[in-house]
Amino acid sequence: MDLSTRLGPLRLRSPLVAASGTVGSVADFAAVASLQAYGAAVAKSVTRTPRPGLPPPRLAPVASGMLNGIGIQNPGIEAWLKTVAPGLASLEVPVWGSAAGETADEFAEVAAGLAAGGVAAVEVNLSCPNLEGRMFSLDTEAAAAVVSAVRREVLVPVGAKLSPNAQDIVAVAGAVAEAGADFVVLTNSIWGAAIDSSTRRPLLSGVIGGYSGVPLRPIALRCVFEVHRALPELPIVGCGGVRRGEDVVEYLLAGASAVAVGTVHFAEPRAGRRIVRQLLAYGRKHGVERVEELVGAVEPW
Ligand SMILES: Cc1cc2nc3c(=O)[nH]c(=O)nc-3n(C[C@H](O)[C@H](O)[C@H](O)COP(=O)(O)O)c2cc1C
Repeated sequence: MDLSTRLGPLRLRSPLVAASGTVGSVADFAAVASLQAYGAAVAKSVTRTPRPGLPPPRLAPVASGMLNGIGIQNPGIEAWLKTVAPGLASLEVPVWGSAAGETADEFAEVAAGLAAGGVAAVEVNLSCPNLEGRMFSLDTEAAAAVVSAVRREVLVPVGAKLSPNAQDIVAVAGAVAEAGADFVVLTNSIWGAAIDSSTRRPLLSGVIGGYSGVPLRPIALRCVFEVHRALPELPIVGCGGVRRGEDVVEYLLAGASAVAVGTVHFAEPRAGRRIVRQLLAYGRKHGVERVEELVGAVEPW
């Protein structure tokens, strides 16, 4: 099966994308995983100034998934340009940057830095569950304002990463597309919390964090379905709870053109290779010659 896929202006050699925040700066991850499995790998979100992140505990395994409250720990764009950017060209995968911030101007400044550093695309993280203030992707106007500001600053393709907590994900996706996003990433983690019954303390220092992993899949898949049905021309990266090749197929059928893999990397850094093998086995078994044949090819009842 030909694994290559088109995502708006981007051509990816594989539909698999390594999700932001689960593969470090990407260079960190190269030592423990095979980057060849991916069409792109997204570096950890970067902000204008350095952020230490939240104090521990910041990660907690919970029933069939994971809670995280990292709080966008990152060195800030200036240090990122000095320490991470110079290594990008030697990696075996195109790297996308991820921009985060508290105002549209901050996002734009970070995105310009990422683009100057040589990323192949910029993901605009409008959906971090662990930042102070209101989440941009819950609000069509705020989300569109950020994407417009970023669009004005960079020439590389721009993706908007949205939250499954949005009340009307189709409206937000439509607004960011109108503002110039080349694709959307559906979705980031969903808000969640857990408490240790013996200590009576929340499992995260930030109390509420991002819930990710297998249980997120039906929720994110619903978002992909809805957005693809309403906006069939808008390219989508599906993301949430992918663990096997069949999960990738599920997202493709619902309308995603590429599929990001996150939480599984913590337990199995080489998961990408296995997932690609499973995807190829699916293609052989079902006589699928090109991954692109699967995009949006779900059968109606
Ligand atoms: C520990 C951790 C850190 C994350 N950090 C980021 C981040 O910095 N930027 C971002 O856009 N998404 C971040 N995410 C969200 C993932 O990229 C992904 O959207 C989410 O986990 C759902 O996919 P999954 O179920 O395959 O993990 C993070 C997820 C985890 C588990």
